[in-house]
Amino acid sequence: MSSPVLLLSGVTREHRQGSSVVHALCGIDLAVHAGELVAVMGPSGSGKSTLLHIAGGLDTPTAGQVLVEDRDLATLSAAAGAAVRRRSVGYVFQDLNLLPSLSAVENVALPRELDGVRSRLARREAVKALEEVGVADLAHRFPDEMSGGQQQRVAIARALVGPRRLLLADEPTGALDSATGEEVLRVLRGRCEAGAAGVLVTHEARHAAWADRVVFLRDGVVVDQSGPIAGAESLLSTGGAA
Ligand SMILES: Nc1ncnc2c1ncn2[C@@H]1O[C@H](COP(=O)(O)OP(=O)(O)OP(=O)(O)O)[C@@H](O)[C@H]1O
Ligand SMILES: [Mg+2]
Repeated sequence: MSSPVLLLSGVTREHRQGSSVVHALCGIDLAVHAGELVAVMGPSGSGKSTLLHIAGGLDTPTAGQVLVEDRDLATLSAAAGAAVRRRSVGYVFQDLNLLPSLSAVENVALPRELDGVRSRLARREAVKALEEVGVADLAHRFPDEMSGGQQQRVAIARALVGPRRLLLADEPTGALDSATGEEVLRVLRGRCEAGAAGVLVTHEARHAAWADRVVFLRDGVVVDQSGPIAGAESLLSTGGAA
């Protein structure tokens, strides 16, 4: 098998608060290959967002190693790390992080333009990504002119745009009605089928059913792993109507 797109080995993240230490993650091992979608579930505070931040190079482990496409994030210069995050990693944040002064299409095109893609091409790609998540008609609206669910879909389009190999999504369906949520998961799943590796944080078993495997976290530790999930294939072939 080819090497995983994402490899976490012994990843630990401690937060020091005065004399006490919070272990957000303890010795996590996780490999996600191209074509795979892995769901991460667990109670609030179990370390799901921390795991995603570390996988995307937005946070650094206090111990352990993170490889994205065989590159050890800890050994990269700040500029090289930023380039990996822009080119290889598509990230949907729990709190969206859209830039309020940019329209939807500008928000989605921005990471590609930062990467040196010509502005017209970046725009075309951005419109296509907005179409995939069903909000192309809102391309020229600003974030504060959209509903929470519409903003969420723009954030997802921004994560999908361009040839991203690693897609990280933190509760990407939180503000969406269930039909739109399923539609977004179908897009994410489709990208994984097409060769990306995906990690999806979710509270809902119904959404985790789109994944090949589920990793359960509790207090920063993997307490269970399941998968492949029975029914995920049939969900796909019946259009998610289960
Ligand atoms: N900057 C920080 N300083 C101290 N503790 C932190 C910090 N960030 C996270 N933590 C702690 O690390 C643990 C894991 O937090 P994390 O945000 O990863 O949880 P989560 O599983 O994403 O929760 P939720 O489902 O509520 O989003 C929690 O106990 C949290 O309080
Ligand atoms: Mg979280």
